[in-house]
Amino acid sequence: MDTFVSELMAKMTLKEKIGQMNLLSVGADVTGPVLSEGVEEKIDNGQVGGLFNMYGPSAVRQLQQRVMEKSRLKIPMIFGYDVIHGHRTIFPIPLALSSSWDLNLIQRTAIAAASEASADGLNWVFSPMVDITRDPRWGRVMEGAGEDTYLGSQIARAMVVGYQGKEKMLGTDNVLACVKHFALYGAAEAGRDYNTVDMSRQRMYNEYLAPYKAAVDANVGSVMTSFNEVDGIPASGNKWLLTDLLRKQWGFKGFVATDYTAINEMVAHGVGDEKQVTALALNAGSEMDMVGELFSNHAEELVKSGQVPIKKIDEACRRILEAKHKLGLFADPFRYCNEERAITQILSSDKIALSKEAAVKSMVLLKNENNVLPLKASQKVAFIGPFIKDQGNQLGSWSGAGRSQDCVSLWQALETAGLAKQCTYAKGCNILDDQALIARLNRDGASLALDAKSPQEMIDQAVETVKNADIAVVVLGEPAAMSGEASSRTAIGLFDHQIALLQALKKTGKPIVLVLMNGRPLTLTWEDQNMDAILETWFGGLQAGPATVDVLFGHANPSAKLSMTFPRNVGQIPIHYNSKNTGRPFVENSKYKTQYLDASNTPLYPFGFGLSYAQFDYSNLALSSPTIKANQSLNVSATVSNTSKTDGIETVQLYIRDMVASVTRPVKELKGFQKILLKAGESKTVSFTLSPDDLRFYDSDLNFVAEPGDFQVFVGGNSRDTKEATFKLLAP
Ligand code: NOJ
Repeated sequence: MDTFVSELMAKMTLKEKIGQMNLLSVGADVTGPVLSEGVEEKIDNGQVGGLFNMYGPSAVRQLQQRVMEKSRLKIPMIFGYDVIHGHRTIFPIPLALSSSWDLNLIQRTAIAAASEASADGLNWVFSPMVDITRDPRWGRVMEGAGEDTYLGSQIARAMVVGYQGKEKMLGTDNVLACVKHFALYGAAEAGRDYNTVDMSRQRMYNEYLAPYKAAVDANVGSVMTSFNEVDGIPASGNKWLLTDLLRKQWGFKGFVATDYTAINEMVAHGVGDEKQVTALALNAGSEMDMVGELFSNHAEELVKSGQVPIKKIDEACRRILEAKHKLGLFADPFRYCNEERAITQILSSDKIALSKEAAVKSMVLLKNENNVLPLKASQKVAFIGPFIKDQGNQLGSWSGAGRSQDCVSLWQALETAGLAKQCTYAKGCNILDDQALIARLNRDGASLALDAKSPQEMIDQAVETVKNADIAVVVLGEPAAMSGEASSRTAIGLFDHQIALLQALKKTGKPIVLVLMNGRPLTLTWEDQNMDAILETWFGGLQAGPATVDVLFGHANPSAKLSMTFPRNVGQIPIHYNSKNTGRPFVENSKYKTQYLDASNTPLYPFGFGLSYAQFDYSNLALSSPTIKANQSLNVSATVSNTSKTDGIETVQLYIRDMVASVTRPVKELKGFQKILLKAGESKTVSFTLSPDDLRFYDSDLNFVAEPGDFQVFVGGNSRDTKEATFKLLAP
């Protein structure tokens, strides 16, 4: 590869090298304010390194053909796309998948997505998104793995390997992954998309950077910069971030692409004019300019005038060519344009089955009073809600090439399962009834509409339907268009008109199961007090309908656990389980302690929480030793018993707390988890090994150290309800 790339580069003009660093958008999916123009001519002139937002073997073949026929050096282009939770077979949104805590499952969804994408002309996916998220107002929490560093890092690794392949990158059914958004994009102030981020190095290193690093350690082929600033410098122009940290400290070998027009946006950030920000970006280590075309417009001049060393262009061009070489594009530019593979791979039955499995394993049971769930075969069930016969929202945001006609709705699933005859239906309300908001979302691609019936007529009909049934299943939530990019909210409860429906139904006295479809943690305080059961299904993808039916009727037992805390109200945000103790930790009935006057500090549903139709009991927490030395590991074990009559899967979670350190440490930190199947009445002993590495953190000089002293260990089924023990790390 080295010789090949060197020989090729020796033939390239400066302009052609810069051409490789130009990524243009073609096709219908606009994810930013600009769409590329004059693409074909630029391809002919060797000014395009890659394209995104189009797919399909013949469409891709046509443009690749063009570069091979018309450009001087015939360097194949790379074809990218936002394959975020599946390509054509849409899986649950990433936040949902992360709730499965099932790395193997998540990896299989990435493998399936890569198989479909690579059969559909693509060889580069803009995934995984690994931004740590603690603010559910931010619409993009749906794209990531939630709030936890450890879980997020494990998922980042699983996805990169899933996309790129385990062994030697890359087979024909693998694609290049792109970890994003580097860095800290999830920490936008006030949860408002694209907003400022400001964070101490302590928090960065200890809490936010690990998932990106995990992707780099797993050999991710590319990194995408974030829109936000880091330490006052926008990420795409931040030399510390892209060179000192990413290249020098972490040893990243792939290439760095910017996010959509992120270099141009540095002008609005206020760090220079177009030429200056281009120089900033190049000198910082941005290597591929997504859509902005500033490299095309200014890089040559900047090199000639000495403002950017030619070395920067050479390095960038080389890394992009290396990626193409690894993808096998020099050997066969049409390697990913195989119509036959497209026919056999896309929407294949194994992928559809996986989509259903993933949806089942992503559903979080938040409440189940008196075991109203699962539904009984003898019950007459009223299904109420605007999502039940809807076929599109279940795709969720960032569902790229997913199509609503491939979705199976809840009602269709009931019919197919032969259950519709014991069920009745009423729509009950609109998904959204705020006309201005509907108009705004529809302008940007949603297709929301108001029902011809008035809100009161719909409620009345729903009430009648529920009166004639034994139990109501009410499916409510947010339209898909209200999470994802540029979709922040300041209120994250169910809409008032949806609550009005629930209030009316509650008056019937019938038990109510609330099924939620949404892309972020919601505030559900009233619902928690008033509903009999709550099942969080997120946006479950193509098979959300059948998966929900299986869980509701007990053909599958829910096993997912929240990867993001559910607050009681918006005022508690940002809220996450791994907070610091503070100097004035909360004490009941004591004024000068950290607390609110009008709400508790605790969340409604903590990180790691999720119920099952089975019940699990924890006992016998034991440590292999009360002390360990710096080079020793500790064994932590606990007995988990299924005390119910139903088989179930439990996710056993291990947390630690470093009691005294040179810098303050969180009150709990996840350090391990295991999913175990327990038959009814069965007990198992689960063991974890805590290694000295698990005790390490970045100190005030950013050294990664474990400091001697006392530690607490917690084992349980969520971050709140745990058994505890202590041990001491001895001084060396
Ligand atoms: C902007 C988004 O921030 C990023 O995640 C996405 O990959 C690009 N647009 C390309 O669509």
